Amino acid sequence: MTDLFAAARALVEPSKGLLAADESTPTAAKRLAAYGIASSPELRRQFRDLFLSMEGVERYLSGVILYEETFAQKGSDGKLFPDSLEARGIAPGIKVDEGTEPFPGSAEELITKGLVGLPERLAAFKKGGAVFTKWRAVIRIEGDALPTAAAVLENAKRLASYAKEAQVAGLVPIVEPEVLLAGKHSRARSQAVIQETLATLFSALAAQGVDLGGLLLKTAMARSGDASAHKDASEEVAAATLEALVASVPREVAGIVFLSGGESPDEATANLAAITREARRVEAPWPLTFSYARALQEEALALWKGKAENVEAARAAFRARLEKVQAALVSSP
Ligand code: G3H
Repeated sequence: MTDLFAAARALVEPSKGLLAADESTPTAAKRLAAYGIASSPELRRQFRDLFLSMEGVERYLSGVILYEETFAQKGSDGKLFPDSLEARGIAPGIKVDEGTEPFPGSAEELITKGLVGLPERLAAFKKGGAVFTKWRAVIRIEGDALPTAAAVLENAKRLASYAKEAQVAGLVPIVEPEVLLAGKHSRARSQAVIQETLATLFSALAAQGVDLGGLLLKTAMARSGDASAHKDASEEVAAATLEALVASVPREVAGIVFLSGGESPDEATANLAAITREARRVEAPWPLTFSYARALQEEALALWKGKAENVEAARAAFRARLEKVQAALVSSP
């Protein structure tokens, strides 16, 4: 377990964070299509290479979450992506859930699948050099009706079963119950749902005997829905987020990382800076950092357009965003 503790702590080392480069093939196709880029195994390899092979990326990233297709592909240095990351001191991680399925108990909610055959897949990824893993559940807010307690509980149980299997396999689990930004809900409702979801999750993790010192939590920020008329200030997001976390996350957890969830790059950066400041003010017990996909990649993708001649400009945009996000981790009032 000491190795797991050290690996979990290293992922949240000061001034570094995670790149979530683990979009599934359909999600990657959607992201690329938004910028007029076709999706094929080779174009997805180039998409990953744009970010993962940027010179000096190790100054900003402690780890990268990969998708299984990328895990078996090679970067422009001729090395498999996990080996190439490892050689530069970046921990390779892997998304091991297998997406969602409808929840039988509530037709409008989704449950994450992937427990069947999980031990075998974990062993193969460990052998391939993975240090950590991720499992994402999605929790949708719809007025007071959703989420249902039953869907939250079922997702929590599966997250906990996954986390236990990951630790048994010698891999750090990142449990990600993503409370979605989509909707008209208020910030207070988001805060309450995050708090309730995390309380349920940590009960399930305790029931499974998961060691929290070798686990990271990935969470959304508590904020008004994207279709709400209210525009939150970063300080409001930070206060609501820390209140939810302090009320529900045990202090033993090795660290907390945030997803960007559809926030713009600037919003995700400003909110992270405010959260960092608020965490210092309330003396939050865990290290906090980013684990963004869209907020780190969007600006670069818009410039790249799938063309080799745009790689340099796209990487410059990626680097500029990493600089800003890194600065957000040490921002002062
Ligand atoms: O599961 C979601 C990803 O790991 C984070 O993606 O930052 O675009 O929300 P996002």
